[in-house]
Amino acid sequence: MFNLKGKVAVVTGASSGLGADAARAYAKAGASVAILARRKEKLEALAEELKSDHTNVLAVSCDVTDEASVKSAVQQVIEHFGKIDILLNNAGIAVKGGVDTLSQDDWNRSMDTNVKGIFLVSKYVVPHMMEQHYGKIINTSSVNAFIGDKADLFIRHSYNASKSAVLGLSMGMAASYGKYNITVNTICPGLFESEMTSSTLFQSEEFLKAYSYQCPLGRPGQPGELNGAILFFSSDASSYITGQFMIIDGGTSFV
Ligand SMILES: NC(=O)c1ccc[n+]([C@@H]2O[C@H](COP(=O)([O-])OP(=O)(O)OC[C@H]3O[C@@H](n4cnc5c(N)ncnc54)[C@H](O)[C@@H]3O)[C@@H](O)[C@H]2O)c1
Repeated sequence: MFNLKGKVAVVTGASSGLGADAARAYAKAGASVAILARRKEKLEALAEELKSDHTNVLAVSCDVTDEASVKSAVQQVIEHFGKIDILLNNAGIAVKGGVDTLSQDDWNRSMDTNVKGIFLVSKYVVPHMMEQHYGKIINTSSVNAFIGDKADLFIRHSYNASKSAVLGLSMGMAASYGKYNITVNTICPGLFESEMTSSTLFQSEEFLKAYSYQCPLGRPGQPGELNGAILFFSSDASSYITGQFMIIDGGTSFV
């Protein structure tokens, strides 16, 4: 059920963190993988790593906020692999600041990457999935769609707003494209160490202690611990599940 042999998976923002981890998990599950991000040298390094494990991999430069770049990247993937079965919309940024301090530019940057990015990539992938009558789309939200950051140091109102918007977008997409045998589900990670968090949240002993205290499992997520949810929503194990979200946070947000 979880086997992805013969499938083609696209991962955005794959040059680091959770996206790079997901690309490795797709490869292990047997999929061919297209890794998209802005930093070509990081993508090439990941591509080499995956190729050495006998994975069919394509690294494509792509800025998810730029429609021309997205259109060209999706075309390159389809030309190379002939199809796209799975789309993991992972690219994201976390901009610090509350409504009292945020600039409009920072607000727009957050919304552009985290929400418009999913719209643009889906805009070019969905018609292809509709035509082939198959698709698994996984959008990346966050526990911060549901809860705010209480520590002053980490207030991120535009991030909260963008990640809630991802849920709404996913539900709309799920409702519209189910008849084309396309499922659209959302993952909501809690705290995981990555490029995004290692220089911020992971720098605060106080924050890590508070998170671990509130987390029934008593710790942040480890590399790879998001991949079970991603593979579930990417595979036929979730063939009758769409419009859902899964929170992967060791229970922190809801107990
Ligand atoms: N790490 C966590 O604790 C956590 C928690 C909840 C949600 N998330 C979400 O998971 C996703 C991955 O984050 P991460 O923690 O791995 O951080 P990360 O910074 O390591 O990864 C984000 C990736 O997105 C890429 N990216 C950013 N803007 C882009 C753009 N315009 N075009 C293409 N790529 C772009 C970055 O270059 C990077 O490779 C994000 O959507 C993030 O919001 C992370």
